Amino acid sequence: MRLGPGRRAALALAALAAPLVWIAVHLLPPTAAAAAAVTALVAAAWAFGYGVDRRLADLLGVLRRLAAGDFAARAPELEGGLSAELNALAERVGRALTGLTRDKAQLEAVLDQMTEAVVAVDAEGRVLVVNPALSRLLGVDEAAARGRSYLESLRHNGISALLGAVLRDRRPAAQEVRIVAREELVFDAHAAPLLEDGRLAGALLVLHDITRLRRLEQVRRDFVANVGHELRTPLVSIKGFAETLREGALDDREHRVEFVRTIEEHADRLSKLVDDLLDLTAIESGHRAPRFEATDAPALCAEVVRELAPQAAARAVRVEVLPSAGVPPARADRDQLRQILVNLADNAIKYNEEGGLVELSVEPWEGGLRVTVRDTGPGIPEADLPRVFERFYRVDKARAREAGGTGLGLSIVKHLVEAHGGKVSVESRQPGGSSFRFTLRAA
Ligand SMILES: Nc1ncnc2c1ncn2[C@@H]1O[C@H](COP(=O)(O)OP(=O)(O)OP(=O)(O)O)[C@@H](O)[C@H]1O
Ligand SMILES: [Mg+2]
Repeated sequence: MRLGPGRRAALALAALAAPLVWIAVHLLPPTAAAAAAVTALVAAAWAFGYGVDRRLADLLGVLRRLAAGDFAARAPELEGGLSAELNALAERVGRALTGLTRDKAQLEAVLDQMTEAVVAVDAEGRVLVVNPALSRLLGVDEAAARGRSYLESLRHNGISALLGAVLRDRRPAAQEVRIVAREELVFDAHAAPLLEDGRLAGALLVLHDITRLRRLEQVRRDFVANVGHELRTPLVSIKGFAETLREGALDDREHRVEFVRTIEEHADRLSKLVDDLLDLTAIESGHRAPRFEATDAPALCAEVVRELAPQAAARAVRVEVLPSAGVPPARADRDQLRQILVNLADNAIKYNEEGGLVELSVEPWEGGLRVTVRDTGPGIPEADLPRVFERFYRVDKARAREAGGTGLGLSIVKHLVEAHGGKVSVESRQPGGSSFRFTLRAA
């Protein structure tokens, strides 16, 4: 078949369109590429329609389907290998689009699932992407933020400064930023330039939450400071009394024994402090995992009461174990349960008033059991209640110290109860006294 001039022009146009489409698909952003490719194909189709016979009309129909995004459409056989060329083109565009759509979906899924907050901006600082973690953190609406400057859409000084620095210097940068949401959170912010063929295309910023880490560091610093303080108090006293003795009090028959006794008392406090600290560390680091056995909790309560009788007598406090019924054997480490009970009963006696009462009771509780140590002491102020289980926390510092306390007893109790799978709680009324309760599982 011979080609007329119109068709030759059309063929030339189509031949031109092919590389244009190729360039568009490879070099332009996906949506622009698809639009350019389809426009070129439709232009070629229109050119073919200009001479028109039936097969070219069919070709136009196919190209319209391609334009509508149906890349499965194929052109009918035409002379000069033209339809083969167009079909190959349609397939390449279709494949490229499918690949891009899949990559985009994967990228979106990754960004959505990330716990780190992520934002990407273009070279002019307009927001390209904000992931859900960042939206939640800064209360930013993703759709509203996109296309707007990060300065006005993110409204966070630290983040803006970091993005600004990266866009200006084209070098990665990192700094700590704080964001006040419901509480103050601390983030390690990392930003890096996005480069395309050496040109700056934008910047990417990732926020990694390090609040927990910072809190742990603070707890450790406080702990070391507290231990230092607690050790210093008895040491200062021991040194003071030793000096007094050396500087002449050794000859003071009336007072020297009293001085030596005071030194002994402080040494006892030091050794109790060290023992409690080692105990707490061992429990916390899991080196004292409970050795569970079926334990008779009411009988153990009675044993502990007998053990503490001298202390109770010295303070004129009555200690009783209430009768219990239907209590199952506890799944407990006997020594550790004893330690829990001694600590709670010791507090109930120590912080009680003269002539006061302490009651220990055990009852069945949610398939296991619950132990209560109740006292008729002065009670604990409401504001202090949530903190009494913290290490070194003392309500009345002077009184607790005078009573020889290190402030570690209740935190040891809490750790031991939790290692047993139970929960510890406290209720207190002023006046009226306190009730410490903990649960245990049945054996
Ligand atoms: N039954 C109680 N009544 C009133 N206050 C209490 C009672 N039990 C504990 N407290 C308060 O809680 C603080 C913390 O108790 P905890 O047992 O942890 O430490 P401590 O008794 O001072 O020292 P330790 O138990 O190491 O000898 C106490 O200092 C005391 O102020
Ligand atoms: Mg105590």
